[in-house]
Amino acid sequence: MIVQKENKVLRENAGNVADIDTAEVKTVIKKMAEAMFKEPDGIGIAAPQIGESLRIFLVAGEVVSSTSEELRQKEKMDDQIYLTFINPVFKKVSAKKNKDVEGCLSVRGIYGEVTRPEKVTIEYFDEHGKKHSRGASGLFARVLQHEMDHLEGTLFIDKAKNIHKIKAEMP
Ligand code: CO
Repeated sequence: MIVQKENKVLRENAGNVADIDTAEVKTVIKKMAEAMFKEPDGIGIAAPQIGESLRIFLVAGEVVSSTSEELRQKEKMDDQIYLTFINPVFKKVSAKKNKDVEGCLSVRGIYGEVTRPEKVTIEYFDEHGKKHSRGASGLFARVLQHEMDHLEGTLFIDKAKNIHKIKAEMP
C-alpha cells in the first residue's frame, strides 16, 4: 500500500542502508516493486512511500533512456523491469534547467509544474551492493530527482507551480 501525503514518514529524512545484502532489504524492494507496478502510472517509487524510512528508490525500466547491460540482463528474466537505487548521491547536476508536469503516487489527483536540472550524474548501490555511476537526462533525470526528494522528506507539491487537481482518475 502506498502511503499518502498526510503520513509523517513522507516528511522524514530517510536513513542510509547500512547492510544492503540482507533479507530485510530484499523484502522492502520487493514490496516497493509490487506497489509501483500495481499503479498504471507508476514510473518510480521511494521506500518512504511504503512506510520504510530508508534511502532506497526504484525507477521503472521504461523511463531509463540509456541502453544498459544491467537492464538487458533483467529483461531476460522478468517483464517488470526496474533499476534499484540504494544510498544514492548526486555527483553532478546541470546548471541548465527545464520545467515539466509531475504527479506522485503519494499525492493522488494533483499535478503541477516543477523546474529541475536537465541532467544529473548519480552514484548509487544496486540491490547486490555493487556501486554504479550513471548520467541521466530527460524524464529519467526528472524521476531520479523526484525520488531523491522523497528521501529528504520533500514532496513535489512543495516546489510545484500551477498546481491543479483532477477530479477523476483516468482508468
Ligand atoms: Co513521488
